[in-house]
Amino acid sequence: MAIEQTLSIIKPDAVAKGVIGEIYSRFEKNGLNIIATRMLHMTRKQAEAFYAVHRERPFFNKLVEFMISGPVMVQVLEGDEAITKYRELMGATNPKFAAPGTIRYDYASDTGNNDVHENAVHGSDSQETARVEIDFFFKREEICPRTR
Ligand code: CMP
Repeated sequence: MAIEQTLSIIKPDAVAKGVIGEIYSRFEKNGLNIIATRMLHMTRKQAEAFYAVHRERPFFNKLVEFMISGPVMVQVLEGDEAITKYRELMGATNPKFAAPGTIRYDYASDTGNNDVHENAVHGSDSQETARVEIDFFFKREEICPRTR
């Protein structure tokens, strides 16, 4: 039993589709407690900083354009093995390879052949990344561990 926190983003494609509630329901049904959340429309500077690790990748500019094309929901999820559990729920980064029943299979907007994968959700890939990504969007006092 290892309680972890992870950073989740519901991306502009999924927000525009009106599936925030359906995705939140998957978190709640799978033991991932939402302990902080907010909607924002990222600035170009914010999106470039958040995805700085991908700066040299060919899809970087398209990724930034995609992430600032509309508002996103950002949330901190907490639960047992939350990082791995959430990555399983999301499915493969390329929606073409996402398994049936995963969030990306059900809600991603592209077929996997686009310049950038409009893949509905983002999730941290390790404990170290999770800490950095949570701090990117939330102050410590905005996080509300469940007391009941
Ligand atoms: P995410 O999990 O938010 O992390 C980086 C994002 O870049 C990823 O989801 C996709 O939206 C996009 N991405 C990653 N790899 C590729 C790729 N090979 N081609 C296109 N887009 C990608």
